[in-house]
Amino acid sequence: MQHTNGLEDARNYEAKYGGRIGPENRPVFHVSPYTGWANDPNGFSVYKGAYHLFYQYYPYETVWGPMHWGHVKSADLIKWEYLPCALAPDSDFDRAGCWSGGAVETQDGEQMLIYTGRMYRTGSEGQEEIVQVQCMATGDGTDYRKYEGNPVLDAGGLPEGMSPYDFRDPKIWRDEEEDCCYMLVSSRGPDGSGCLLLYRSGSGREWTFVTVLESCNREYGSMWECPDFFTEEGDTDMPDMPYMPDMLPAAILVSPQEMELTGEFQNRHGNIVLTGRYDRRNHHFIRETVHAVDDGYDFYAAQTLLAPDGRRIMIAWMQGWENARVRQNDNLWFGMMTLPREVSIRRGRLFQQPVRELEKYRTCPVRKEGIMVSGSISLEGIRGRCLDMTVQVRQKEDGDCRSFSVCIAADQAHGSTLRYDFAEGLLTFDRSRSGYVDDAMAPKRIFLEDHPSCLELRFILDRYSAEIFVNGGEHVITSVIPTPLTAGDILFGAEGKAVLDIEKYEIRIS
Ligand code: FRU
Repeated sequence: MQHTNGLEDARNYEAKYGGRIGPENRPVFHVSPYTGWANDPNGFSVYKGAYHLFYQYYPYETVWGPMHWGHVKSADLIKWEYLPCALAPDSDFDRAGCWSGGAVETQDGEQMLIYTGRMYRTGSEGQEEIVQVQCMATGDGTDYRKYEGNPVLDAGGLPEGMSPYDFRDPKIWRDEEEDCCYMLVSSRGPDGSGCLLLYRSGSGREWTFVTVLESCNREYGSMWECPDFFTEEGDTDMPDMPYMPDMLPAAILVSPQEMELTGEFQNRHGNIVLTGRYDRRNHHFIRETVHAVDDGYDFYAAQTLLAPDGRRIMIAWMQGWENARVRQNDNLWFGMMTLPREVSIRRGRLFQQPVRELEKYRTCPVRKEGIMVSGSISLEGIRGRCLDMTVQVRQKEDGDCRSFSVCIAADQAHGSTLRYDFAEGLLTFDRSRSGYVDDAMAPKRIFLEDHPSCLELRFILDRYSAEIFVNGGEHVITSVIPTPLTAGDILFGAEGKAVLDIEKYEIRIS
């Protein structure tokens, strides 16, 4: 079947083939594409009281292709409803792809999408080339009309020396006080590495350059993809900064390409967070700290939104570009989103917790207290691949416990293991027995400051993935687990004696 890459074609294809994928062949509460391929989350926002999430989408195959926008919505961030494909690459300004972007509700009650169009043009030597431009579409939450004046921002709006070939992934938000919108877009500066450009607009149809908000200076990877930016109200406990009322605690999230693997940065394509202060009068960001957002294998292109109740909520693509080459099963979809997480800036880090709405779907509680582990054990009632399990672990008083481990998605041949070495304060997560073809991938290593002698580990498993929240969300380890679903054992292990309290629930979405 020949595809035109038009919207009607995509919607017809969805109507015809989407239903082939039953709920039993998907994650239970993580977003996966309706059919085909998904990468970055896009337009994560609230519109008319519902959460909307779009995603980079190629409906026709489970590989990356000319990008469309897929679309889901939810009342509670856990149970998602599929909506028809929202954008297709079918116009002059986006024929080579509708790339990542954001969404806001306009004052006249429409939903405005701002995205990167990959546009063919004739270059200075007469050659055909593709540039990246920013485009707008508006709609009612299901159907969108691309603005006839697109692009709304192109090379003409770039400050000197910035690249029109890498000019993408607008993050957009409304400033109620100033009654306008801001947009943060990535480009490459004269040194070839990432720069974040801030623009302002009243209507979304014209954009004025404000400032270069941050630059990579070749320090953290090269191009910085998919920026996100937010401030928090009032003061937080920033380590070295005196409280200044006009200088809000702030965070910039970016996904650098080609990171060097040093220290806590363990992925070539990962997500980092820059924390600091934002002087909102002068649009000046003062950077304080830089950290990896997630310490696992699969986390990219995070976006955040501000929920009506004031929570800052983040979602990301639960994949790494390197790992996306490897296919474990013949599912008719590929690519999942993380569980949405409540985030806050604390002590220069991004603390993350699963959204509390998940608790509504917990069932079949199993509680165990004061379980002594020495060697390897399994526990009655503690198994499965779709669950929310919190494990509190401490050394037995005599303090001779060298390490503690939890092995999930286990059977005779498989198992993915989180291990904690008490003396070194070192957590490792090893999925080399998860069934990946690229088994040799190095375990992830996370050093915990202060070498805590008690740990709280919250495991969220959803069939094909694990997200492990450590000590109240100070660290999170996110990984696809491609292991056959029949591998549902959970084993606890200790060298020496460890004591555990466990609370475990199944998750059911009815
Ligand atoms: C990041 C990214 C974005 C781009 C999109 C294309 O994963 O490369 O920079 O907009 O994916 O699908």
